[in-house]
Amino acid sequence: MKIAILPGDGIGTEIVAEAVKVLNVLDLKFEMETALVGGAAYEAHGHPLPESTLKLAKEADAVLFGAVGDWKYDKLDRPLRPEQAVLGLRKNLGLFANFRPAICYDELVSASSLKPELVAGLDILIIRELTGDIYFGQPRGRRTALDGHFPGAEEAFDTMRYSRPEIERIARVAFEAARKRNKHVTSVDKANVLETFQLWKDVVTEVGKDYPDVTLDHMYVDNAAMQLVKQPKFFDVVVTGNMFGDILSDEAAMLTGSIGMLPSASLNASGQGLYEPSHGSAPDIAGKGVANPLATILSAAMMLRFTLNQPDAAGRIERAVKHVLASGLRTGDIWSEGSTRVGTREMGDAVVAAI
Ligand code: NAI
Ligand code: MG
Repeated sequence: MKIAILPGDGIGTEIVAEAVKVLNVLDLKFEMETALVGGAAYEAHGHPLPESTLKLAKEADAVLFGAVGDWKYDKLDRPLRPEQAVLGLRKNLGLFANFRPAICYDELVSASSLKPELVAGLDILIIRELTGDIYFGQPRGRRTALDGHFPGAEEAFDTMRYSRPEIERIARVAFEAARKRNKHVTSVDKANVLETFQLWKDVVTEVGKDYPDVTLDHMYVDNAAMQLVKQPKFFDVVVTGNMFGDILSDEAAMLTGSIGMLPSASLNASGQGLYEPSHGSAPDIAGKGVANPLATILSAAMMLRFTLNQPDAAGRIERAVKHVLASGLRTGDIWSEGSTRVGTREMGDAVVAAI
């Protein structure tokens, strides 16, 4: 099992170091190779995603990614900015399925912005299509309007599009995931207004016939946004397009309290994946040793479950994280009165000890 380790910038290096420590105590045989990405790669090689880093990522079974970005790169041309490395990896590895679990740990219920009874026990999985939709659809651009409300005015346009196979493969990913959970898929669309999402709804319904053991329901995206805060525990697996998924997954993240707790996975058709925390490089706290490493440690657990076929090891990590939280240890982002404040390294050490 070969893992490409791409720590990146800011807190990326600090949190990935803790996840590597955790992987190393599992008694599994890994080959881990580290490479530069993002601003760190730009400094060394003049490009955020050097050929050698991309090659390593492609050859590996899985990629463990930290985070990239820093305000100091804001003035660079767009193709040289650290964030382009994330888009480049998604595109080059064909990572079309993005998994964003939103789990509310019992110990952190009070950190949620919702009432405790609404989020206690919350465990939902948002599956976002990651390589299609209006973010990538052509044509797009700017022009002078020929018609519409203001002919002759400057206008901009994007194209929302999905093909049947694109929808079919993400739907299968969702039904397969639901089979391993509570067997309930909610497909989120806007079929009442958009042709793209009428096709989405039709195809998801057809694929659903292959999964009679899984309950399928459909919800319009505006209603889904409401239900996520009204009765989040209604959901099990949510599957949706790139743009709706972008927005809903951030909304769901906040139900759980801190972004420092949330892992993510992006998978391609052969099951190869990139695993990373949902947050960014947090330049405001970088280098201080206070970042929460749990999102990255939990991303490593997802990597073991989804790509490396080691569900037992994944479970050990997840139970260790729960144990550490139950023992009262908290990094600054999840700290509350009465708990014990620890830094990045102490949190990683505690997870290692719990395993
Ligand atoms: P951010 O997620 O880096 O930080 C938002 C806030 O959450 C900050 O106050 C930060 O201190 C806090 N935070 C984030 N992760 C934390 C952790 N593990 N422990 C404790 N606190 C944590 O988002 P922001 O500030 O919008 O972006 C910072 C940089 O990260 C930008 O350059 C942005 O482009 C980049 N970014 C990179 C991503 C990636 O590498 N996949 C994703 C999102 C942003
Ligand atoms: Mg987003």
